[in-house]
Amino acid sequence: MENFTFYAPTYFVFGKDTETEAGTYVKRFGGTKVLLHYGGGSVIRTGLLQRVRDSLAAAGIDSVELGGVRPNPRSGLVYEGIALCKEEGIDFILAVGGGSVIDSAKAIAAGGAYDGDFWDFYTGKVVEKALPVGTVLTISAAGSEGSPDSVITKEEGMFKRGATGEALRPWFSILNPALTQTLPAYQTACGVTDILAHLYERYLTNTKDVEVTDRMIEALMLAMIQAGPKAVRDSTDYESRANIMWAGMMAHNNSCGVGRTQDWTSHDIEHELSALYDCAHGAGLAVTMPAVFTYNMQHDVMRFAQIAVRVWGCEMNFAHPEETAKAGIEALRSFLISIGMPKNLLELGGAEADIEKMAHSACCGNGRDGSIGGFVKLTQKDVENIYRLMV
Ligand code: NZQ
Ligand code: ZN
Repeated sequence: MENFTFYAPTYFVFGKDTETEAGTYVKRFGGTKVLLHYGGGSVIRTGLLQRVRDSLAAAGIDSVELGGVRPNPRSGLVYEGIALCKEEGIDFILAVGGGSVIDSAKAIAAGGAYDGDFWDFYTGKVVEKALPVGTVLTISAAGSEGSPDSVITKEEGMFKRGATGEALRPWFSILNPALTQTLPAYQTACGVTDILAHLYERYLTNTKDVEVTDRMIEALMLAMIQAGPKAVRDSTDYESRANIMWAGMMAHNNSCGVGRTQDWTSHDIEHELSALYDCAHGAGLAVTMPAVFTYNMQHDVMRFAQIAVRVWGCEMNFAHPEETAKAGIEALRSFLISIGMPKNLLELGGAEADIEKMAHSACCGNGRDGSIGGFVKLTQKDVENIYRLMV
């Protein structure tokens, strides 16, 4: 295991009706004037936004609202939010929504405490200072409620890139699984896929003897394979949604990624798809992961065979472990299709003609150095080959 530091101080409030405590927690963490940030309307339709407004008012907290965050959040609204924070003297940002709203809130938080262009943080500068962020989560997927990361698309060039920094971890996150019961089955499945992807990105490591985190990842994956299809079939299944919600947080706050190298190839390759085609991140990952794993399998056949046996229930073929490894990748592919995810680039709305452009952007765009991948270092040509496996 490699040396590491781990500090994940987000205060989690989990369970039914907990959104009514939002005001209390903003106050507890020092907020007096809040930017209430939300998405395209689901929180208005479900009445959640009004409950959060009431809770802020009951706690005596002033608020200014900024809605309209779209999935795959854009830089334009971030600039608007930063200006609003500075004009209004905002001292706390409350995100009510999914990963897109939370990431937009984090970008505003970073920009609100910085004199330069907030995009500097999305080209490699670490966020060391930010306004405090709290969240009321409405979809289990991105894990942004417990992560130090934010992913934003810059309209100029359509670069979808991430920023990181401990200052971006939410101060509190309210996780009420019942809020996710209004999600369409497709979005639920996208969320489950993203959670599995966050686990795979950490499982695919070159660090040896990391049994504790391997086993934590496997446990979370097994729970997702059980709870995911149930929630997709029956949106009202509270217990499945509760398990998915906590797994989504655990999968990405890095508790099971410490002390080991990580991959993130599938994410880098997917981000080009959701930047170009505006597809859901999870749906893009469903198409990307099997292709990346097939391409990288020979790098460590035994690691792929291990996950095939321990998570996907495949039988170990000791004479030909690559057969076991392949069976695990096929089991993942079938699982994703069974919950309603697309199976190729065309179903996702993509086109073969864009492959070269996407591979170039993934490896060289926005200041990248020509390669990606923590598990296997991949060149632009490799990435093109991976996109071709998705057709
Ligand atoms: O905008 P509204 O109307 O709220 O609709 C949203 C949106 O259309 C809807 N929705 C959310 N909660 C709902 C609901 N509809 C009905 N009932 C509810 N309870 O669902 C749609 C998707 O929402 P979004 O926030 O985009 O989903 P998700 O949480 O998957 O976030 C995706 C974004 O997170 C980034 C992705 O790249 C993508 O941009 N990621 C962020 C990460 C991080 N910060 O750590 C890591 C991830 O790997 C990921 O890259
Ligand atoms: Zn993801």
